[in-house]
Amino acid sequence: MSTPQASTKPVSAASAPNIDSMLKEKRIFKPSAAFAKASRIGSMKKYKKLHRASLKNPDKFWGKAAEELTWAKPWKKVCVWKPPFAEWFVGGKINASVNCLDRHLTGPLRNKAALIWEGEPGEVVTLTYQQLHREVCLMANVLKKHGVEAGDRVVVYLPMIPEAVIAMLACARIGAPHSVVFSGYSAEALKERVNDCGAKIIITSDGGFRRGSALGIKRNVDEALLGTPKVKSVLVVQRTKQEVIMHPGRDFWLHEETQLVSSKCPAQPFDSEHPLFILYTSGSTGKPKGILHTTAGYLLGCHLTTKYLFDLKPEDVYFCTADVGWITGHSYVAYGVLSNGGTSLLYEGVPNHPEPDRFWRLIDKHKVNIFYTAPTAIRSFIKWGDEWLAPHDLSSLRLLGSVGEPINPEAWMWYHDKVGNKRCPIVDTWWQTETGCHMIAPFPGATPLKPGSATLPFFGIDAAVVDDDGNEVPVNQGGKLVIRRPWPSMLRTIYGDAARYRKTYWSEIKGCYFAGDGARRDKDGYFWIVGRIDDVLNVAGHRLGTSEVESAIVSHPDVAEAAVVGRPDELKGQAVVAFVTLKNGVLHSKALKDALRAHVGKEIGPIAKPDDIRFTDMLPKTRSGKIMRRLLKEVAASPNGEIKGDTTTLEDLGILAKLQKSED
Ligand code: WT7
Repeated sequence: MSTPQASTKPVSAASAPNIDSMLKEKRIFKPSAAFAKASRIGSMKKYKKLHRASLKNPDKFWGKAAEELTWAKPWKKVCVWKPPFAEWFVGGKINASVNCLDRHLTGPLRNKAALIWEGEPGEVVTLTYQQLHREVCLMANVLKKHGVEAGDRVVVYLPMIPEAVIAMLACARIGAPHSVVFSGYSAEALKERVNDCGAKIIITSDGGFRRGSALGIKRNVDEALLGTPKVKSVLVVQRTKQEVIMHPGRDFWLHEETQLVSSKCPAQPFDSEHPLFILYTSGSTGKPKGILHTTAGYLLGCHLTTKYLFDLKPEDVYFCTADVGWITGHSYVAYGVLSNGGTSLLYEGVPNHPEPDRFWRLIDKHKVNIFYTAPTAIRSFIKWGDEWLAPHDLSSLRLLGSVGEPINPEAWMWYHDKVGNKRCPIVDTWWQTETGCHMIAPFPGATPLKPGSATLPFFGIDAAVVDDDGNEVPVNQGGKLVIRRPWPSMLRTIYGDAARYRKTYWSEIKGCYFAGDGARRDKDGYFWIVGRIDDVLNVAGHRLGTSEVESAIVSHPDVAEAAVVGRPDELKGQAVVAFVTLKNGVLHSKALKDALRAHVGKEIGPIAKPDDIRFTDMLPKTRSGKIMRRLLKEVAASPNGEIKGDTTTLEDLGILAKLQKSED
């Protein structure tokens, strides 16, 4: 079904990108003097000076920054830009696994924990840099034994176990681009990705533990491989010891294969622009896009943002809750942390197993200092109730991060007060699979925080909010969020489809990168993401971003989560329909609907008052936790709640049936 169109007068092209912004957040949180003093960028003066210099002379800035990496051969030219194709650190040679491992082995970091892993059943494995290096060399040699050469693509289909990181680094070591496929994806999704990138080898496991039971993973591979003619070998990690079928000559146990190879695997240097990985992002329509990242620029972005925005110190335990199957798991579970010699905590399972306090338990047990998670998780914690935090000592935390969606100011406040005990800066990071690394985010020791804003751009990032002609819109007016010049960790292309790369990202606004988000800047230049441009509502001539209306609803004390969409409306063009999840224990009622409508009226204005509020226990989300407003639009618009759109990326299909029945 196509998106319903507004039935009132069409919005003129000139005014189309302008989004009315009505929610004004007044709270502001300055970094503490102690935090500022101990951090690398300790004042706004320093940030502004460096940011200005980085834009004035990007080659100088990035060239100097790149000295932080270990190079096999220095580059000749920092950037060659033939729009929309960029090359960075041209002429240089580098190996990503050397930067994440070998270079830490010559000093005291050698015996430091690189990875601390906790399985869902509770076992803990710690790998020092030296141990991780050995595992990576072994796996790299197994790959070579199976004929993998530089340039060959390797699909990694693993749960959150140390082997997932080991596999990525082993690939990087021998120059074989990895393509990690989230282990929760189906056989069909796996097949499509394996075929698109032309992999001839897959690294997988028998299964993984999730929600207390052993999930089958290898069996999905078996099913996918019925339709992947190029795959020659499957390397299988033994995780759950469940029964699996091993096809002779094709399937090999990794623990047996590593017995047969040497633990020495000298790293080969590769060109800066050698492909490091392909990661598929589904987007809302069409075939998944294979986002291609290359070696040096990507690694530099991961290294710098982890160092400056997470303020990572050698003594920190850092816990990012993202799966390795997402870009966050690539950049901020693996590459950025390891390149800085940090300690990365990995957790295999779900946040509510065996109880909804698992993350707090992990933080307490491993004395986590930096915690990075997503608004969708934060809203679940809010829904489950504060009592789950109470028994746990969270005093080791010193910095919190957020990624994936706009964080509603009230969820921000809860995170700040309840998890951070009002002591920890919240680093809200705006970026995308395509950008590789954080683009807009606060420097925790410098940037005053405003709940709900990702604040200001990173060094070298020229972000702006523009109209359709590429002109910057006035203060507090919404428009399209663009990046106006290339940056080292940007995607290089869509694998096998350069035309789609050009069209998707570089054709909307002349000379700019645009990947779909709407935003506004306030008087201090802070960026506020108002949601995806495709989701913008058009109510009686006003264009409203979804995030502001949702944030207004979430600021009501009974609400845990909300998603708003437009429904075609004779009079207004679109009517506002809100799907609302209440906190545990709150009952649905007509009175509450009226109260919520009044609340939105007060917070934003009458124009944004939902015409229709539907209570639901859960919202439809992608597997990485993003609300699928496209499906909600269909539910809202169709009288019997019929869904015709693509639901393959939906996390829980049962939700749709429930939504279709949700009371009116
Ligand atoms: C899209 C990118 C970035 C890694 C995880 C998701 C939304 C992401 C924020 C944020 C507001 C955000 C945007 C963006 N998004 N972070 N801090 N504030 N919105 O990667 O799956 O490529 O999604 O996620 O809409 O375009 P992704």
